[in-house]
Amino acid sequence: MEKIVVNGGKKLYGNIKVNSAKNAYLPILAGSILSKGEILLHDCPKFDDILSMCNILKTLGIKCKLENHELILNCGGANAFEIPEEQTKLIRSSIFTLGSILGRFKKAKVAYPGGCAIGSRPIDLHIKGLRALNVKVEEENGFLICDGKNMRGSDVLLNFPSVGATENIMLAATLTKGRTRIFNPAKEPEIVDLQNFLNAMGAKIVGAGGDLIEIEGVNDLSSVEYTPMPDRIITGTYILACAITGGDITLENTNASHIESLIKKIENKCCKIYVQGDKIRVLADGKPKGVGLVETKPYPDFPTDLQPQIVALASISDGESMIIENLFETRFKHIPELVKMGANIQVDGKIAKITGVKNLFGCEVEATDLRGGACLVLAGLKAAGQTIISGVHHIDRGYEKIEMLSKLGADIKRINV
Ligand code: EPZ
Repeated sequence: MEKIVVNGGKKLYGNIKVNSAKNAYLPILAGSILSKGEILLHDCPKFDDILSMCNILKTLGIKCKLENHELILNCGGANAFEIPEEQTKLIRSSIFTLGSILGRFKKAKVAYPGGCAIGSRPIDLHIKGLRALNVKVEEENGFLICDGKNMRGSDVLLNFPSVGATENIMLAATLTKGRTRIFNPAKEPEIVDLQNFLNAMGAKIVGAGGDLIEIEGVNDLSSVEYTPMPDRIITGTYILACAITGGDITLENTNASHIESLIKKIENKCCKIYVQGDKIRVLADGKPKGVGLVETKPYPDFPTDLQPQIVALASISDGESMIIENLFETRFKHIPELVKMGANIQVDGKIAKITGVKNLFGCEVEATDLRGGACLVLAGLKAAGQTIISGVHHIDRGYEKIEMLSKLGADIKRINV
């Protein structure tokens, strides 16, 4: 079994390039099902979730070739509309393929999705949206069996701005006759990236990132060459790593406007941040102040995917912090592991009250989800002594070899035990 071993106390120095975003790549890969042409995607990160999604595409008859971070998809041969349970169980984003398969084949059979154990993660909004497009959706033995032969454009109101549901409805509507309007959609940058990708293939979508997305159905989509946006969560993870350890790092291939909520929270309290084009420089003395109140909310507010990482920072900051997790009901599983390392955190429902301690001490801890695992790595970078992290497969779902932080001077490695 693989483990990550970190010997804490090293400051971080140097430059590191940020990957393209996992949460942009996944809906874009699902969107490729809609095209009959060839798609070339650049800067493809080798995250396990991406590889799982490529396996789903192969099951549908799409040829996938990944060489040196270049992904070539040949979608002309897509000829299936069912995805086996063992594949959909691996990743939450498998649910996005439902909209694409329906858009292309007007029928689909997809098992309920899997993904991080951070909450119940219902898909009622996805189903409500597809039904609004006149899709007949039946649920049978954990499968969604969909008949879309009478699909047509329609208005869809989301009573919560769900990222996945917004993407699924966009994908289902792209090749569906008529106009579809999505009211109260998610506004995340990944939604804008999906719109840009689909339009580059000939789709007619406007409004992503705002309060109303409008889609005019077209007949088919062409080939395209595309580079998805930088990963804003990896960018935030590296910024927080430097704020925790101290040092001077420069991140390349970033978009600071995507993480304004993080920068506003920690700038001048925990580190100094300088933005120049697609570069972000972080200067930190390793003695952060408490971050005060942090509430996770849909974009553009503070992202839930950076909540575990800012909890690690707050744990060793001077002062009090309060973190409120509004999106996922069990996204505090990293906290008992931090407490084992000496953190002073009281959890009451969706609120974590944190009193910063001088330092944490290394010990054996377990990652139970992707961003919770990243939190433990960040804590280990600071902690006195050695931190040994198991459950590394969770971290590999969204970080390509997180031990690459050693390029910035961290004493971190992956071992096989
Ligand atoms: C996406 O998940 C991301 N995953 C998540 O990132 C991210 O945390 C989340 O958006 C919020 O930003 C991908 O993009 C692959 P939601 P998704 O639908 O689409 C409720 C990571 O670490 N909800 O916006 O599943 C749901 O229970 C992952 O990279 C319904 O009630 O998120 C939750 O409380 C973790 N009914 C809230 O909405 C539905 O039908 C947000 O979920 C759908 C969602």
